[in-house]
Amino acid sequence: MRKPIIAGNWKMFKTRDEALFFILKVFPLVPEIDKVDTVICAQAPLLHCLVKRQGDNLRIGAQNLYSEDEGAFTGEVSGKLLNSYKVEYVIIGHSERRTYFHETDAIVNAKLKAALRNNLKPIVCVGEHLEEREQGLTNQVLSRQIEGCFKDIEASSVLGVTIAYEPIWAIGTGKTATKETAEEACAYIRSLIKDAYGERVSEKVRIQYGGSVKPQNIKELMSMPNIDGALIGGASLDADAFVMMANAAIND
Ligand code: 13P
Repeated sequence: MRKPIIAGNWKMFKTRDEALFFILKVFPLVPEIDKVDTVICAQAPLLHCLVKRQGDNLRIGAQNLYSEDEGAFTGEVSGKLLNSYKVEYVIIGHSERRTYFHETDAIVNAKLKAALRNNLKPIVCVGEHLEEREQGLTNQVLSRQIEGCFKDIEASSVLGVTIAYEPIWAIGTGKTATKETAEEACAYIRSLIKDAYGERVSEKVRIQYGGSVKPQNIKELMSMPNIDGALIGGASLDADAFVMMANAAIND
């Protein structure tokens, strides 16, 4: 049985006061950590104040890191620094970073190595564009992304990685994938992990769905056998909705 993981991706939203209001309201209400891993991924300057107030059941994550641990890379944030602030998770390869900041699978792979080297728990995002789905290329895209992102990553490390299947056409559009569509892609991703690392690893690795997840649809998505959690954008900004979704993820 894989423990569910519910992660909020705040993207470039919330000021310090808004983040504090959220965390103080939410941390006493999220499920126990032995039932669900509940994570908030915020903009870098918010991380310190969130970590200080996260409570026992809520974990904090970054939305990005750089592939090197230090150096002359103005404006970047290292995994080494994130780890020193006790940030636990980091999102890597979100489609917004792939689109607006030209991150390739090779860059995602280098960032994944940096995260693992610095004992961060990576959430690696994959997913296809609408045109790719319409052309029947979804599996091809997922296969290319998984192969590129996980190049030279050992099986023991893969166990600690969460994969987020985020079809780009479902992000911020209100157009959620049906539970069958999401399940099919997550099952395919698990089969790719099985081919590369064997059944034991593939049965343990957690795969989230992301794309217009909200309190109204999380339960049915989570009811699917290969969906172990959600990566939530817009709906994670609201404290009540986030608490509702984290609690909805508890295995019945
Ligand atoms: P929405 O939940 O707003 O569609 O965003 C999904 C997402 O990109 C999470 O990383």
